[in-house]
Amino acid sequence: MIEKLDRLAKNAAQRAYSPYSGIRVGAAVADEAGRVFTGCNIENASYGLTLCAERVAIATAVAAGATSIAALSVAIHDDGADVERFVPCGACLQFLAEFAEPATRVSVCDVGEFTFGELLTNPFVVT
Ligand code: THU
Repeated sequence: MIEKLDRLAKNAAQRAYSPYSGIRVGAAVADEAGRVFTGCNIENASYGLTLCAERVAIATAVAAGATSIAALSVAIHDDGADVERFVPCGACLQFLAEFAEPATRVSVCDVGEFTFGELLTNPFVVT
């Protein structure tokens, strides 16, 4: 499944709308039923409105009825970026926290594979 998500994430990066940063990010998630959804980053002239690829993919899944995210893959494409250091941003990890478990697999294409718990040890939670 992770290999499939990696492939879909790389593909989704081609659809990025990123005229301001030039950085293309794609994401793919699988839900609890094995359904897959993708997202890309979508920038805006008002920079703060930019949507990250991971949040677009998660929102697409939830809007389609997903109740949990079983795995996420993200791919970054930018000739000048240091991909070795790329992991999903803190906002996306906190967004993912609603739908993931500490053991949920997060693959960062060309970087490595992590568990969600490794990337965000202490999410903000309201119980
Ligand atoms: N970006 C993502 O799509 N995901 C992340 O986890 C970090 C950053 C996007 C947002 C923006 O379009 C570009 O990368 C540069 O920050």
